[in-house]
Amino acid sequence: MTSTLYVGLMSGTSLDGVDAVLLDAAAAPRVLASVHHPFDEALRRELLALNAPGDNELDRAARLGVTLARRYAAAVAELLQASGGPPADVRAIGCHGQTVRHRPDRGYTVQIGNAALLAELTGIAVVADFRARDVAAGGQGAPLAPAFHATLFRHRSENRAVVNIGGIANVTRLPIEGTVVGFDCGPGNCLLDLWAAKHLGRPYDEDGAWAAGGAVVPALLGRLRDEPFFAAPPPKSTGRDLFNEAWLAARLRGEEPRAVQATLLELTAGCIADACKGASRVIVCGGGTRNGALMRRVAALASAAVESTAAHGLDPSLVEAAAFAWLAERTMNGAPGNLAEVTGARGPRVLGAIYPR
Ligand SMILES: Nc1ncnc2c1ncn2[C@@H]1O[C@H](COP(=O)(O)OP(=O)(O)OP(=O)(O)O)[C@@H](O)[C@H]1O
Ligand SMILES: [Mg+2]
Repeated sequence: MTSTLYVGLMSGTSLDGVDAVLLDAAAAPRVLASVHHPFDEALRRELLALNAPGDNELDRAARLGVTLARRYAAAVAELLQASGGPPADVRAIGCHGQTVRHRPDRGYTVQIGNAALLAELTGIAVVADFRARDVAAGGQGAPLAPAFHATLFRHRSENRAVVNIGGIANVTRLPIEGTVVGFDCGPGNCLLDLWAAKHLGRPYDEDGAWAAGGAVVPALLGRLRDEPFFAAPPPKSTGRDLFNEAWLAARLRGEEPRAVQATLLELTAGCIADACKGASRVIVCGGGTRNGALMRRVAALASAAVESTAAHGLDPSLVEAAAFAWLAERTMNGAPGNLAEVTGARGPRVLGAIYPR
């Protein structure tokens, strides 16, 4: 019998590290094991630098692709050791790769990670480059998690929204009836993280405590919210290409650092709450669930019950990695993974490239 075991590997825009899960992708998908491998400061810095134009990008991207494949392979080895199963039991690894450019408007999105080397190091088939086919079909290539969110969380008598607060925040609206709507609503942790790094020297503002003690600056909030991306209708997706240090710097007028952090938190929570309109329950995943101040603001602004995916039996930090294990199952079985109504693609597509075992 064909195995229903898949590994999902997600390293997102926050550049915090790689999440690896072992998923049983049977009718009711189940996470069997997981590991998180943090990226060291040097790798983080190199990846961040590669997100902006610079010298010798081809060589740096290829070199970092090799480095990432080695990190991914180490995470897979640890995952399989933790779960006690041999690699032969796993049908494929779904590897998202590390996004360094996301420009569907120009017809491309770039995730690096050297899938060939990952297949070689693990002895397991790898599915990679999930987003490219959707972009080739005229779509945003993102978000791709909504089909998985719908599988896990759609309810027959309750309008729900699922929010993933990673570097960027994406929302999946799951109405009782009708089509699923999903889109990137704006920054998740990315602006909060970069401001915390600059002023606290830490990768993030622990629990949002620094932001919580600051006062929101209404004029700054207004300038931030003027960004046309927020008012644009879906389908839409974004990344560090837009929400980066230069974007923020252009909108600052010498405000006090802590007040800026409070305002960024208000911006982030407000965009998330707006995107969840119409839902009576909001189910949240991603690292942003560990930011207590952000979660409290989302709960205050959304007219809905707000809870973590943990309330539904799934660790919020594992949902995105599990989604890419699930997407690998779709691809290996020749089934489409995108929702064309979400990404704007011309139709459903089988996503990714397969590097056989
Ligand atoms: N204790 C904490 N307090 C505040 N923020 C936290 C905490 N722990 C994690 N975070 C935030 O979560 C982020 C990591 O989240 P996550 O891994 O979901 O993002 P990601 O890798 O960008 O994923 P995605 O692919 O969804 O973009 C960190 O960069 C940080 O901003
Ligand atoms: Mg992460």
